[in-house]
Amino acid sequence: MPIERVAVLGAGVMGGGIAAHLANAGLSVKLLDVPGVDGQRNGPAARGLEAVKSADPAALMHRRFAKRIEVGNFEDDWAGVSECDWVVEAVVERLDVKHALYRSLDGVLKPGAVLSSNTSTLPLSELVRPLPLSMRRSFLITHFFNPPRYMRLLEVVVGPDTDPALVERITTFCDVSLGKGVVRAHDTPGFIANRIGAMWLGLGVSAAVERGITVEEADAVIGGPFGIPRTGVFGLLDLVGLDLMPHVRASMDAYLPAEDPVRGVAPPPAFLERLIEDGYTGRKGKGGFYRLNREGGGRTKEGIDLETGQYRASRKASPACLAAAKRGGLAALFGAEDPPAAYAWDVMSETLRYACALVPEIADDIASVDAAMRLGFRWAKGPFELIDELGAAWFVERLKQEDRPVPPLLAAAVECGFYASDEAGRTMTTPEGNRTPVPQVNGKQTLADLKRQGAPLKRNRSASVWDLGDDVLCLEFHTKMNALDAGVIEMISHALAFARDRKGLVIHNDAENFSVGANAGLILFASHLAMWDMVELGLQGGQSAYKALKYAPFPVVGAPSGMARGGGCEILLHCDAVQAHAETYMGLVEVGVGLLPGWGGCKEMVVRWLENEKRPGGPMPAIQKAFELISLATGARSAEEARDHLFLLPRDRVTMSLDRLLGDAKERVLELADEYIPPQPAEVHLPGASAKAALTLAVESFRALGFATDHDCVVADGVADVLTGGDADIVDVLSEDDLLALERRAFLNLLRTAPTAARLEHMLTTGKPLRN
Ligand code: NAI
Repeated sequence: MPIERVAVLGAGVMGGGIAAHLANAGLSVKLLDVPGVDGQRNGPAARGLEAVKSADPAALMHRRFAKRIEVGNFEDDWAGVSECDWVVEAVVERLDVKHALYRSLDGVLKPGAVLSSNTSTLPLSELVRPLPLSMRRSFLITHFFNPPRYMRLLEVVVGPDTDPALVERITTFCDVSLGKGVVRAHDTPGFIANRIGAMWLGLGVSAAVERGITVEEADAVIGGPFGIPRTGVFGLLDLVGLDLMPHVRASMDAYLPAEDPVRGVAPPPAFLERLIEDGYTGRKGKGGFYRLNREGGGRTKEGIDLETGQYRASRKASPACLAAAKRGGLAALFGAEDPPAAYAWDVMSETLRYACALVPEIADDIASVDAAMRLGFRWAKGPFELIDELGAAWFVERLKQEDRPVPPLLAAAVECGFYASDEAGRTMTTPEGNRTPVPQVNGKQTLADLKRQGAPLKRNRSASVWDLGDDVLCLEFHTKMNALDAGVIEMISHALAFARDRKGLVIHNDAENFSVGANAGLILFASHLAMWDMVELGLQGGQSAYKALKYAPFPVVGAPSGMARGGGCEILLHCDAVQAHAETYMGLVEVGVGLLPGWGGCKEMVVRWLENEKRPGGPMPAIQKAFELISLATGARSAEEARDHLFLLPRDRVTMSLDRLLGDAKERVLELADEYIPPQPAEVHLPGASAKAALTLAVESFRALGFATDHDCVVADGVADVLTGGDADIVDVLSEDDLLALERRAFLNLLRTAPTAARLEHMLTTGKPLRN
């Protein structure tokens, strides 16, 4: 039975977020809550839906998706629930409330429908206690993380009576359709991520207090070196809310035995209670361990003094052990002499040791635990992968020196580590101390897997070409932020040459951002030295490479995720098809640095809008659209939004699961490769100077109103010149090469101006656009 209609019970923070994400996946959703007391029967659910619509960051991938959510209440709308294939309960964390709701569902659920709870602390064994066997067979826990659209982890907990076929069905659905990393957890308190997270965060706070180190030092040393987000411990607590700490602690105390090490962690400092009471609950409140002090009209960054609980000016932290870690890795960091190194050892050694002691109690295998920490806390590596990086033998030796117990699972990894990889695949250590293959899921292929197994066909400092098998290749960028440079352009030509006798090429990488665009530092450098010929060559090189991708005799499929800006967006516009991750943020944002898209972006956008079947008569509305997109640096906030701007076309597809993106893109290449015919070069008629005057007039009026700066007008003039065809007349036929020449001319003109240089400089130093 496919899952098409879902009921979400409870329209609070999680219920609303889950409903939104189900709508993102194209489902029809009923969002129910308690009946309103003021005669507005659906009031509470309607308020939940309003919160969904205005959530920041956006819960919906497109505003239009809100229509897929219908609100209702727990008394009047059970008939609608009986049509649903899945019922997700996300009401307040109280066993009695959840039980009462389940009882009222008895006889309502459609045969074969799934019933799941989003509980974060209540054991499944308790939740199902009053349920008849028929309902227990359909029951499981699906534990989403907040916010459900963005957090990739979904912990699934099943009971002894849960129907295995139903578990399989919901697991595949959540993976493929919702894009979640589904991890099976056992029915133990906090499941996987929150159990280990409670230890890590608890120790992160208590050890900092004990060692007398600052919040800045703590976060600096726990962040970067361990591949943990820069928020570290205190920044993360600010993000999730300080009020969560007492809550997590209370639930661990309620459900874990007294001897569990988490319960032995020292309680948070006494000032925490006062902070929470005073509204200092973190970023959602007035501040947390950090705050931006706006008193007296200023904006001073402050951190909390862990001894006094008072705010003081933020202190930049660059402990010596960080330099040691850069030179010699984690072991060198732990070996350093400064207090932050000792702090890192306190926190991480105990967290890692705890994780080792928890398998198989909380999960069947170590891979599940690593996945949960990667997806739930955005660690680059899970605890067992971190121990492998450190060296299990080294870790055990140091624990022994300190007379600390070594869990048997850790002892079993001393010889060969937790994971090993070769061409045959990846194996891991089992709780019994044997080795077993790490399970591979059909359709999931990542570059990380390929990297573990072997070397690329070709590599330079900026990019590589990989063999994905089945005669499909992959071009990967790997510069900082995946900024595009001459090395990337060079590798495009290698990729094209390698792919000539294969089926096709995918352009993909597994970094957080597909590409932030051309390397602005290099452009600025060349402009400082007035190396205009070099810039022109760079423009021509990029344009030719992208054109060669477009007209290659085999299909080229772009597979982006995260930001695809500027040149990163332009390369996708030249692909035969894009298989985009749902969280892809495309945009031609060059005007932010005083430039315009010069690698075929203007050309592709004007052609796309001119060829758009829905456009009203004449070229002007199409040119106007392309002009607005480029001159306002419009960025799409999801793949779905990219369709509105024609960054993506109907032929382009979206993949929800990041782990399936590469596999789907490869499939798309194979699908297109049969009888592939390259596209026909476009020819356009553009109206020239009169149309340009109309576009620039609009910008001038914005300047008059103070919405645009002088230099905005100069940049917009350049954009308008390209999009209207320069000196062309509407009867002239313009080729793609003609448009590319116009792009180069306008780009160079802008680069020669001082305000553009100032914008580039500002972007490089602050990461933000300059409004000059
Ligand atoms: P919330 O407080 O935002 O929403 C709770 C919802 O329950 C509200 O819509 C409320 O109207 C409804 N409710 C209250 N009393 C009720 C009653 N007597 N009968 C029926 N419904 C009632 O809570 P939140 O944060 O959305 O949590 C919901 C569930 O998700 C809980 O089980 C929680 O443990 C779990 N969870 C929460 C996470 C979070 O970060 N907030 C993360 C993961 C799971």
